[in-house]
Amino acid sequence: MNPNKALWEKGDFTRIAGSMRESGEALVAAIGVGPGMKVLDLGCGDGTTALPEARRGAEVLGVDIAANLVEAGNRRAAAEGLANLRFQEGDACDLHDLADDSFDLVVSIFGAMFAPKPFDVAKELVRVTRLGGRIVMGNWIPNDPTLVAQILKISASYSPPPPEGFVSPMTWGVEDNVIERFAAAGVPEEKISFERATYTFNFAGAASELVAEFRAYYGPTMNAFEAAAANGREDDLRAELDALFNAQNTSTSDNATSIPATFLRVTVAV
Ligand SMILES: C[S@@+](CC[C@H](N)C(=O)[O-])C[C@H]1O[C@@H](n2cnc3c(N)ncnc32)[C@H](O)[C@@H]1O
Repeated sequence: MNPNKALWEKGDFTRIAGSMRESGEALVAAIGVGPGMKVLDLGCGDGTTALPEARRGAEVLGVDIAANLVEAGNRRAAAEGLANLRFQEGDACDLHDLADDSFDLVVSIFGAMFAPKPFDVAKELVRVTRLGGRIVMGNWIPNDPTLVAQILKISASYSPPPPEGFVSPMTWGVEDNVIERFAAAGVPEEKISFERATYTFNFAGAASELVAEFRAYYGPTMNAFEAAAANGREDDLRAELDALFNAQNTSTSDNATSIPATFLRVTVAV
């Protein structure tokens, strides 16, 4: 089994995505999605951004490597009666089911960054976007002090070193890497723009309960807890994550958590 696919099918990302809906909608509003546009949402999960894109009248295809998330996305689209939205399985490293120049807009929010071959990903993103179209990526930033970069950093410190040749997904949060990857796909630097933006995780429960959701349902955190358990360090990992989530929680209510996280928004004019 492809380890990239196994990682995301392991848990149930819909449980985390539930805390990201408002920011997904705000992002789609900010990038200008309109009726009739052909949109690919890549690494779409259960449709946090794909549903808002479709609600705005775009023709949307969601592609994700995880079969359980594709199913969840199709269920959400059906429940809303969105006939202009469909989800299917696919790998951002090789989108062989999709023809060249198919989309006006390709969106990948914390999605394609997790595919293991970043140069292939950039090539595929450019290939399926029509000339004059746009690619918008949201990428977490390595060593950023906010939530997700810190979760991944703490998790890595409890996990065995990655296999040789592994390229960290976080490298997509470094501008020079993004420029190099799109240059190799034929896009010059002046067609790429960068902006720091914020995603807020909103959860109806205490910060420690949100940690428990990550522990039970978020593949990368589940793996970190398994590695920590093998060394008798599960409690240390839980305590570190508890401290992180509580320190970053801006909600004043005991029953609500709100944690802003900074990401790099990349826009590529194709
Ligand atoms: C952090 S989640 C983000 C999901 C969604 N974009 C959102 O904002 O809620 C990462 C997603 O990328 C998907 N993914 C990881 N590697 C992938 C790949 N090689 N090709 C396509 N999707 C991939 C995962 O299955 C997961 O749904």
